Amino acid sequence: MTRSGLFISFEGIDGAGKSTHIEGLAHAFREQGRVVTITREPGGTPLAERLRTLVLNEPMDAMTEALLVFAARRDHLQNVILPALGRGEVILCDRFTDSTFAYQGGGRGFDWQVLSVLEEWVQGTSLVGEKSEPVQVLQPELTIWFDLPAQVAADRLVGVRIPDKFESQPVAFFEHVAAGYAKRMQAYPSRFARIDSDQAPEFVWRDVVHATQDKGLLPW
Ligand code: TYD
Repeated sequence: MTRSGLFISFEGIDGAGKSTHIEGLAHAFREQGRVVTITREPGGTPLAERLRTLVLNEPMDAMTEALLVFAARRDHLQNVILPALGRGEVILCDRFTDSTFAYQGGGRGFDWQVLSVLEEWVQGTSLVGEKSEPVQVLQPELTIWFDLPAQVAADRLVGVRIPDKFESQPVAFFEHVAAGYAKRMQAYPSRFARIDSDQAPEFVWRDVVHATQDKGLLPW
């Protein structure tokens, strides 16, 4: 029996605390006998990791940033995500395209429509012949959005590590990023699960598991 691949993304402003829950879900899926790959964006391939270093460290305008993260995404899709889904595996991706809408669109104010065009180019599956048919855009089955107030996230990050280009942005930037996530959730309500991350880690974890079970992706 072949099992279909499963694609789950994890989103949130810097300091929202995604990492331990990604590991936890990987463990839960492995216990179900699934093969799991944890990966991240920007990154996940040697080329995309090089683009990540540029995006996170070099000053550049928002369009350049958007083009680089989508270039990294293309390489990641072609070489990691699509092959793994084809083998029926579980892909747990630390950030995906909603980050681009939230950070470059919401945070940096780059044109939402242009991002949608890039999304169709990079994630669209070309349909043979019929030009009038809508393009199918590959999206995760489930996007877990770790949501918490920007000030709380900023307080959590203080002194934890040397901040990168985004982490050193003011709180107001992250309020715009969060608004970007909210706008994406409004556009894709069935794919998104918003998790209140301003609670103790065990309650966040409980909500992550419930969101995954609600989607029928893990047994109750
Ligand atoms: P993050 O995933 O938080 O990793 P770490 O915890 O190691 O810092 O950092 C990635 C950063 O890249 C984060 O600040 C968001 C940003 N980013 C974008 O601006 N656009 C994108 O499309 C993606 C995927 C990430």
